[in-house]
Amino acid sequence: MASTSVRWSSRTGFALAALGSAVGLGNIWRFPYVMGEHGGGAFLVAYLVAVLVLGWPLLMAEIAIGRHTHADGVAAYARLAPARPWRWAGWLGVAACVMILAYYPVIAGWVGQYLLLALQGAMAVPEGVTQASRFQGLVQDGVLSVGSSLAVLLLSVLIVGAGVSAGIERSSKILMPLFAALLLGLAAYSLSLPGATHALEFVFRPEWEALARPVTWLAAFGQALFSIGLAMGILVVYGSYLDDAAPVPRLTLALVVGDTLVALLASLIIFPAVFAMGMAPAQGPGLAFVTLPEVFARMPGGALAGVVFFLLLLIAALTSVVSLLEVPVSLLVSQRAWSRRKAVGVTGIVTMLAVMPVALGEAVSSLQFAGGMTLLSLADMLSSQVVLPLSAIGIALVVGWCWRRESAGLAAGLNDVRGRQLWWLVLRWVVPLALAIVLVTGLLPR
Ligand code: TRP
Repeated sequence: MASTSVRWSSRTGFALAALGSAVGLGNIWRFPYVMGEHGGGAFLVAYLVAVLVLGWPLLMAEIAIGRHTHADGVAAYARLAPARPWRWAGWLGVAACVMILAYYPVIAGWVGQYLLLALQGAMAVPEGVTQASRFQGLVQDGVLSVGSSLAVLLLSVLIVGAGVSAGIERSSKILMPLFAALLLGLAAYSLSLPGATHALEFVFRPEWEALARPVTWLAAFGQALFSIGLAMGILVVYGSYLDDAAPVPRLTLALVVGDTLVALLASLIIFPAVFAMGMAPAQGPGLAFVTLPEVFARMPGGALAGVVFFLLLLIAALTSVVSLLEVPVSLLVSQRAWSRRKAVGVTGIVTMLAVMPVALGEAVSSLQFAGGMTLLSLADMLSSQVVLPLSAIGIALVVGWCWRRESAGLAAGLNDVRGRQLWWLVLRWVVPLALAIVLVTGLLPR
């Protein structure tokens, strides 16, 4: 990481940077639709297990690695386990990052388009058009899709190019609470809709059969890694700026709980509206874009709420794209000794080239696969359900098998012997085995 340009003065700075990276499309766009596809409440149970047993320990592990080695995500592994091939864990994280960068701006571009619709007071659809058909039309407009995703990317490149400045930190301090307040308000409204009881049942009453399916667990594990922003080394870098006395276990727990609450609130907004409008909960990536505009169209004051909501979501997405871009940029700077400008320029151009086919892939059927799978859903699935878990296994193995327990535990801020022991055992055995089992069984053809 370009250690010269990323600076925060306090623990709040760390918390904000980590929160800005964590809270994004993953919470509001991705979580509800993955939940809808994997049995509602059952998925929630699997997700909470994933966050506590996998996400939290891994978050502490990345921060411990960063605090101990003061290196970037790839060099850190080489330093902890020289002579062993653990560097691949770092490189895998970079690969996942590039895959996510190829589609994340496309969705952020949709958010931008809905912001424009909201600004025009056009949340309601005209006669003869449904929200679903409008969304379809929008994503299938190749020029609009490419244009809006490149616009988002360009904005993020400019921010990253200027350095992750105090501007982002300061604005997050205002925007994140506003975001939370708006989310709460929308949830309260949505829960007053006629579909609310049904939705609450869907969200909170586990369909236990879904828990017997390995894919549910694979989706939950992948979603936890994605949403917290793990396994790409970004938190290794953020951790390296943390002061030695910082209470890492508490800070990280607050982070994962906060991230989970945002995702839950998003589901409490979306599902009541889905059921109130007689729609299906398992409609995939379009879920948020089909139901939310309808909520805004119907609620009093919805025109304004729609503008604010999509604006905030765009900002949340932007701060996440910034952190995603920072991964390759920091590596090019520290490993190739490139200037930050050159690194940002090259990363920006490569990402733009990667984004274009993904944006077009929603419209052009020759870019699609069997079963209607698009490049976007393929990149989404592969990155979070294959590459991120593999990279996470690497992190757990490095800490659990190549690092002395005490030294690792102290770097994670675990001063208590029993806590240290438990954390280390979880990383040594539970995380790698659970991820490996879920990967193998989840990916087997059914
Ligand atoms: N966490 C972000 C989200 O939920 C996505 C993201 C940003 C990310 N930076 C990351 C995921 C780094 C993994 C690693 O939308």
